[in-house]
Amino acid sequence: MNKREFIKLAGLAGVAALGNPTGIIAAPASRKGISVLDGNAKAPFELPPLPYGFDALEPHIDKATMEIHHDKHHGAYVKNLNDAVKGSPYENLSLEEILAKVKVEDKAVRNNAGGHFNHSLFWKLLSPQKTTPSDKLKTAINGTFTSYEKFEEIFNTAAKGVFGSGWAWLIVTPGKKLSVISTPNQDNPLMENIVKERGTPILGLDVWEHAYYLKYHNVRAEYVTAFWNLVNWNEVDKLYAAATK
Ligand SMILES: [Fe+2]
Repeated sequence: MNKREFIKLAGLAGVAALGNPTGIIAAPASRKGISVLDGNAKAPFELPPLPYGFDALEPHIDKATMEIHHDKHHGAYVKNLNDAVKGSPYENLSLEEILAKVKVEDKAVRNNAGGHFNHSLFWKLLSPQKTTPSDKLKTAINGTFTSYEKFEEIFNTAAKGVFGSGWAWLIVTPGKKLSVISTPNQDNPLMENIVKERGTPILGLDVWEHAYYLKYHNVRAEYVTAFWNLVNWNEVDKLYAAATK
């Protein structure tokens, strides 16, 4: 797939505009918990800048992929989300309130709110600097998965096992336990009406082909392996601490 085809795909990343979902009460969500992303913005949503340069994650993720992924794909989710919520009962909700309340059948809101949230979080979870998990998080990982190595293995299996497009996640469950899950498309663990195992995402990996195809082609496993060089454990630690308070 060449660059032009990628850009074309980016334009298709969003889905058709929302009709008029009914039965959603435009009131603040009752979900308790942390705000995973800074701030609690409402529509119109904006594309956040990358916290590093497009080429900062080289050689693990190449500059061209980051440019297209951020500007075109994430940009399309933001635009399509704003179009989808306009005039709908979701219009006055924050992004995380939308995720908590979105109905399965409201596909434009579901896909684009998920796409905006997932990518906003993903950029923050990557870092050009080498970081390591805190002792507290390491202890929790060892306690849950028996060892750090086993945790990576389980996460990698989840990431490689996503059929088609989706995400692998490390979450903190409502019982404050760690768990590894995967979600299809742009679904995520905050979607109360959609995912089976809900929780607060503290680490996520985008395994859509648009995240790796230019460099890794069809070999998702190599991209998944490279991801571990880029994890921003400082951010994961922060989210873990907030989710387990
Ligand atoms: Fe993506």
